[in-house]
Amino acid sequence: KHVAVLMGGLSAEREISLRSGEACAKALEEQGFQVSRVDAGHDVANVLAALKPDVAFNALHGKFGEDGCIQGALELLRIPYTHSGVLASSVAMKKDIAKTVMAAAGVPTPKGRVLHRLDAAKTHALPLPYVLKPVSEGSSFGVFIVSEGQEHPPQELWREDWTHGDMMLAEQFIAGRELTCAVMNDKALDVIEILAADGGWYDYHAKYAKGGSKHVLPANLKQNIYQEVQHLALEAHRALGCRGVSRADFRYDDRPGGTGELVVLEVNTQPGMTETSLVPEMAAYAGFSFGELVRWMVEDASC
Ligand code: DAL
Ligand code: MG
Repeated sequence: KHVAVLMGGLSAEREISLRSGEACAKALEEQGFQVSRVDAGHDVANVLAALKPDVAFNALHGKFGEDGCIQGALELLRIPYTHSGVLASSVAMKKDIAKTVMAAAGVPTPKGRVLHRLDAAKTHALPLPYVLKPVSEGSSFGVFIVSEGQEHPPQELWREDWTHGDMMLAEQFIAGRELTCAVMNDKALDVIEILAADGGWYDYHAKYAKGGSKHVLPANLKQNIYQEVQHLALEAHRALGCRGVSRADFRYDDRPGGTGELVVLEVNTQPGMTETSLVPEMAAYAGFSFGELVRWMVEDASC
């Protein structure tokens, strides 16, 4: 089989996608596939039409790669592709719409509202502490945690060279623990707790620098909470209509005197596949080597 690995692309997460794509391409070659690496620019449909691969392995993240655009092009070209389809990708990429869909399915998410970044820059969007994030971005780009005692909203929001879109989601900050759980083949994998190395939050550095965070797998949680995380990951995956592999990110407030809330922050339809990424680690724990994981994705591809 000839597999085109779509990587790089045009989003802010380009560098991450190059890392995801390279790791997947190498593993697919080791699995015996004929692999072409395709940097997905504006000409990607023409490139794929000429290349005629049997399967497109989508290793893109963010704009054009995770939001339904490339998925639509692949449908038109009739090339089977990995991960979610057009609608699930575009809904999941837009955090505010995804929250509405998840809420309708009974999946809890933090209270929030959407507003223009210039309004978010003027006055606090919510009572402190809260989180501000672009509605359609990944890898923590453009995310601010506005802490108690912080007088003004983040002034970076005024920047003329802001590149993360004009709409921001403001969400109540959920104190406590950071958890994540992937779904593969319509089953939840095991739960990871993420501990940012410097005691900070799981930002870009903590996500992608070696040693930037510590992953506890399986997460040390009471059994009923552990199972609830798995249940909600699967419910969110299904509510959004995802396919193949997705990964849901959670916060859990189990502080003494805390609210006990367990909420889904978002579902990632193109979860990272780099050497520090979470899905390959969860798959390995479930008995799938990285090579077996990417092979399964190729075999599961459709259009
Ligand atoms: N957006 C990054 C790649 C992730 O969710 O893993
Ligand atoms: Mg994300």
